Amino acid sequence: MINIVIDTDPGHDDIIASLVAFAHKEAFNILGFTTVCGNQTIEKVTNNILNVLNYLNLDIPVAVGAGKPLCRLPEPQPLAHGESGLDGPIFGHCDKKTLDISAVEFLYSKLKETKLTIVALAPLTNIAELLEKHPDCKDNIERIVLMGGSVYSGNIQVKSEFNIYHDPEAAKIVFNSKVPIVMAPLEVCYAGGIDLSLIERFNKNGKVSKLVYDMLSFYSLYSLNHNLKDTIIFDMTIIIYLLNPEIFTIKKYNVDIELNGEYTRGMTVCEDIKEDSIIHNPVDVLMDVDNEKLTNIFLESIDYLDKQYEEGLNQ
Ligand code: RIB
Ligand code: CA
Repeated sequence: MINIVIDTDPGHDDIIASLVAFAHKEAFNILGFTTVCGNQTIEKVTNNILNVLNYLNLDIPVAVGAGKPLCRLPEPQPLAHGESGLDGPIFGHCDKKTLDISAVEFLYSKLKETKLTIVALAPLTNIAELLEKHPDCKDNIERIVLMGGSVYSGNIQVKSEFNIYHDPEAAKIVFNSKVPIVMAPLEVCYAGGIDLSLIERFNKNGKVSKLVYDMLSFYSLYSLNHNLKDTIIFDMTIIIYLLNPEIFTIKKYNVDIELNGEYTRGMTVCEDIKEDSIIHNPVDVLMDVDNEKLTNIFLESIDYLDKQYEEGLNQ
């Protein structure tokens, strides 16, 4: 079992990634969530994780993080996640509250207590601020495992992935921090796409299945509108890596972040590791995944959670 804090901008794929983590108490001790602006404003993404935890009756702390990137303006993504950031599900009244301390101070407080893995599913603003303000905590960060970047493609610009693009200055601080990093780039997330035909199987009784169906019914519209056969649950990829690294193909690259350029803002520059490398930030980059095994882990996790709630075990 590993101690983790999930840094997140929910975000449909952030929530589904968290559901898979909830289904694996044997693997994860989730110390808390830290929120950061990205898919939507900090208020909306924080509201979304509180609503989900309230719906699932889970008592996991939430600390609020950055409301804007280090140097740039926020660029919310309503086309992918809706105006709320989690369009689709309708939640009832929620009286859950966030912690009184900031995301950075929450992370620091946990790192002073124990070693932990930071699971970064969003722009890296909080993590960069933590490393800048409290460099003494680095030794207790076992790894930063993140969904972000790309080897050659882009989803927000020609060569840039959204989480890195949204705050490239923060990403540069993180990738140059010498903290061990595992990176799930766009390419491995595409390889782990979930076939659209599977969405209907969640249209059934089951507390968690209903949530997943309501989320994917909205989130998959992007794929349907672009004539794609599957929906990409980007953030879930890195959680499944933590559960079953053996189903992934991994390559070490030196990685740094391009901050400028008409087409290259937020590009993760992946350089082969060789004697005369220019970049000296070795990163484990997930290159491919066994889609069938990833899909089965996803489906089995949701089925397991449904059963847990049916039996009243998560109350
Ligand atoms: O590019 C995909 C990433 O951007 C995911 O983390 C998604 O939630 C958005 O934050
Ligand atoms: Ca995210």
